[in-house]
Amino acid sequence: MRIDILTLFPNMFDGFLSESIIKRAIEKKIVEVNIINFRDYSCDPHHKVDDTPYGGGSGMVLTPQPIMDAVDSLKTDNSKVILLTPDGKKYNQKDAYSLAQEKHLIIICGHYEGFDERIRSIVDLEISIGDYVLTGGELPSMIISDTVIRLLDGVIDKESHLNDSFNNNLLDYPTYTKPRVYRGLEVPSVLLNGNHKEIEEYRKEEALKRTREKRPDLLDRN
Ligand SMILES: C[S@@+](CC[C@H](N)C(=O)[O-])C[C@H]1O[C@@H](n2cnc3c(N)ncnc32)[C@H](O)[C@@H]1O
Repeated sequence: MRIDILTLFPNMFDGFLSESIIKRAIEKKIVEVNIINFRDYSCDPHHKVDDTPYGGGSGMVLTPQPIMDAVDSLKTDNSKVILLTPDGKKYNQKDAYSLAQEKHLIIICGHYEGFDERIRSIVDLEISIGDYVLTGGELPSMIISDTVIRLLDGVIDKESHLNDSFNNNLLDYPTYTKPRVYRGLEVPSVLLNGNHKEIEEYRKEEALKRTREKRPDLLDRN
């Protein structure tokens, strides 16, 4: 998979791309991530990428030319173009699975007051990561890339993400590791008896119980 992220702040991605699972996925060539400064595409003599809003109002708005030219130059028949915006479709784990099937994602990070409305005409998908407003699309683009990359074959153990929260509309079951007793809190005995069938049943029941308690809305989803 290839992910191209269009941003004005490429340095924000340094840590994200150079640590842990994402770093290894890149090293193993399972994913290629390109951080592209769309200022480089600006036709303005001073490489300007924003301007004041028509009709007045506060803040600066990203102009259409640099972003739309950047997308034109990167786009192929296999590309999915994503615009990050608080008014987009609210992102969830199902979307992550769906995006993980794509060959090429182009992710546009807005900034300042937002972007010129005409940019919407060249995108396939508008995504919000939640009902709150961030200063820019950089963190949302990392969130989306992270959730997608960890689902790609060879990145993490498949069984591990199949049991993650939100699969089958359930939250994950509780997990424990050594020691067996810590500060008087004991690991449930069923996890110690080596009976895999019983352990599986226990985990199913706990996942259901936890979902009922914390996120009953998930159980009503299709
Ligand atoms: C300060 S925000 C602009 C907010 C815009 N004025 C509004 O109220 O919808 C700047 C940029 O950050 C990104 N952004 C902020 N919050 C986001 C969210 N919840 N999901 C996705 N992107 C977000 C978008 O790319 C947005 O264009």
